[in-house]
Amino acid sequence: MHVLICGGAGYIGSHMARFLVARSVSVTTLDNLSTGHREAVQGGELVEADLLDPASIERALGGRRFDAAMHFCARSLVGESVSQPYAYYANNVSGTLNLLEAMRRHGIGKLVFSSTAAVFGQPERERIDEDHPKAPINPYGASKLMVERILADASSAYGLRSVALRYFNAAGASDDACIGESHQPETHLIPNVLRAALGTGPALKVFGDDYPTPDGTCVRDYVHVDDLAQAHQLALDYMDRHDGAHAFNLGNGKGFSVREVIDAAKAATGREIRYEVAPRRPGDPAVLVASSEKARRELGWVPAHTDLAPIIESAWRWHQTQSY
Ligand code: UFG
Repeated sequence: MHVLICGGAGYIGSHMARFLVARSVSVTTLDNLSTGHREAVQGGELVEADLLDPASIERALGGRRFDAAMHFCARSLVGESVSQPYAYYANNVSGTLNLLEAMRRHGIGKLVFSSTAAVFGQPERERIDEDHPKAPINPYGASKLMVERILADASSAYGLRSVALRYFNAAGASDDACIGESHQPETHLIPNVLRAALGTGPALKVFGDDYPTPDGTCVRDYVHVDDLAQAHQLALDYMDRHDGAHAFNLGNGKGFSVREVIDAAKAATGREIRYEVAPRRPGDPAVLVASSEKARRELGWVPAHTDLAPIIESAWRWHQTQSY
């Protein structure tokens, strides 16, 4: 088994590659290193290529045989997608089309695609299942939903088998603290809270405390990055049994507020975490919590980290190894 991991130098892709290598699956990472990290590629070959440059994809695929591909390359910041929509549609949609076309030429008939909770837009119910209306409210979510549609069309036209996995809030780091979440600039809550605990980041800002939630701060469903990796491997098995284009929501089904994350981080680190309340961040829904019953039932997904504490503890072990 040989899997092409597009975006394998990034946060989720690099954990995926290690996860598969640890289970004796061969992997090759394709990455343009625009936001990924060379040192995060730990196992398998790294081929530098850019999905916006079809010739470089051709060079990456030429001479190698792959049984399946996983596609983690994307621009993924909601706010940035609002101010730079062309960049988001170019990277996330055109780049994916280039990959799909190359996969067709090279006879790669299976794809696991990184999708997002942002395809749903404003939640209409407490737990978001796969049947929830898809009405993205920003270009990031719209670009991912467009790809889901393209994958359905590719299934009808070319017989491509695909699974779109809609992550809620990916978090945590590898259990051996070798790789973790590192973005520049960092916008995600848990890394920012832990940098504040280390004293290496700016003072933490809590974006809004007047939401209609129990403590006024936003509620999210945090899911460990290695549990996401497990779901991807199960998706590979699923595509052996099922043709067509499929989608699953991935979260733990439990919401935690920003204040609860700060409290859990205080407990995990034993440090004081200073923060100030700032205005709401545009585009943030008050509550985003997944129903992942379908993934549990049909993929057989059993996340190992179902509570917030172990997720933050794993992130903390990795953050302490970093010299920011
Ligand atoms: N937050 C802060 N301070 C920070 C960073 C974040 O208060 O320094 C808050 C945010 O306002 C939000 C929560 O913490 O309420 C979580 O924010 P993140 O940036 O960590 O994650 P998001 O919920 O914004 O992002 C996730 C996924 C995206 C997806 C989005 C859909 O990472 O891929 O949900 O809304 F698009």
